[in-house]
Amino acid sequence: MGRFDGRTAMITGAGKNIGKEIALAFAREGANIVVCDLNEENTRSTVKEIEAMGVGAMAAVCDVRDREKINFLVAEAEKRFGGIDILVNNAGGSAGLLGKLTPFADAEPETIDFVLDVNIKGSFNCAHAVLKNMIQKQWGKIINISSIAAVCGLKKRTDYAAAKAAMIGMARALALEVGQYNICVNCVSPGAIARNGDSHGSMTHLGEDGRMGEPKDIADTVLFLAGQDYITGQNIVVDGGRSLGPSHR
Ligand SMILES: NC(=O)c1ccc[n+]([C@@H]2O[C@H](COP(=O)([O-])OP(=O)(O)OC[C@H]3O[C@@H](n4cnc5c(N)ncnc54)[C@H](O)[C@@H]3O)[C@@H](O)[C@H]2O)c1
Repeated sequence: MGRFDGRTAMITGAGKNIGKEIALAFAREGANIVVCDLNEENTRSTVKEIEAMGVGAMAAVCDVRDREKINFLVAEAEKRFGGIDILVNNAGGSAGLLGKLTPFADAEPETIDFVLDVNIKGSFNCAHAVLKNMIQKQWGKIINISSIAAVCGLKKRTDYAAAKAAMIGMARALALEVGQYNICVNCVSPGAIARNGDSHGSMTHLGEDGRMGEPKDIADTVLFLAGQDYITGQNIVVDGGRSLGPSHR
């Protein structure tokens, strides 16, 4: 028996790294998965891994900024699985996605728009697309992947920090509206998470040398929240204590 048997989870940006780890973790616990990602090859390989676990998986190759396509794919998922029970808004990132991290004064307006759109509008599009079905079923979980940048700020990422803070604001306001339908809306804010084994200075307070986070640390927290019925409108920071500041130890 898995914790999410019979549920369907849609994870955006599930082609690799954190999103993929979250998708695999839900699949291991019995959920059907809608794998939404821009990258077709990565989407298909995540779907294959999930199908091999014996649960249903649907490839949704799509840009979360494309509202019509998201609406279409969510409607397809409703036909196939009866609707999305759990939405994880994970697709996102900073100007680093375009290789364009700069101080704000030098940022191109198009890059700022891109960062705001992918994080904010992407999450709005997906939440909007799944919500009516959740309301009908009187059950749902929406989990936004924000960032400690929203809480602490981060140089060369003014647009990103603001967009991630917007995702926290969205979770709080929406939680107030949809609590009456037993829908919980929360955020998880990662600190520095290792990608493909890299490990630049992470300034955390866990482990002998302040270990970086792993995608599993985020997936564990997302699954925890998806399993709770009395936590809503919250932001859980998962950063190994980094946002506590220096320890002077
Ligand atoms: N890695 C970190 O240290 C860290 C820290 C804090 C927050 N986060 C947040 O966690 C989330 C995942 O981070 P990651 O490091 O795994 O990212 P990543 O860049 O490694 O992977 C992101 C995935 O999302 C997909 N994607 C990007 N834009 C998309 C779009 N418009 N539509 C659909 N799919 C899209 C990409 O194809 C990719 O598969 C992001 O929202 C990021 O901002 C990451």
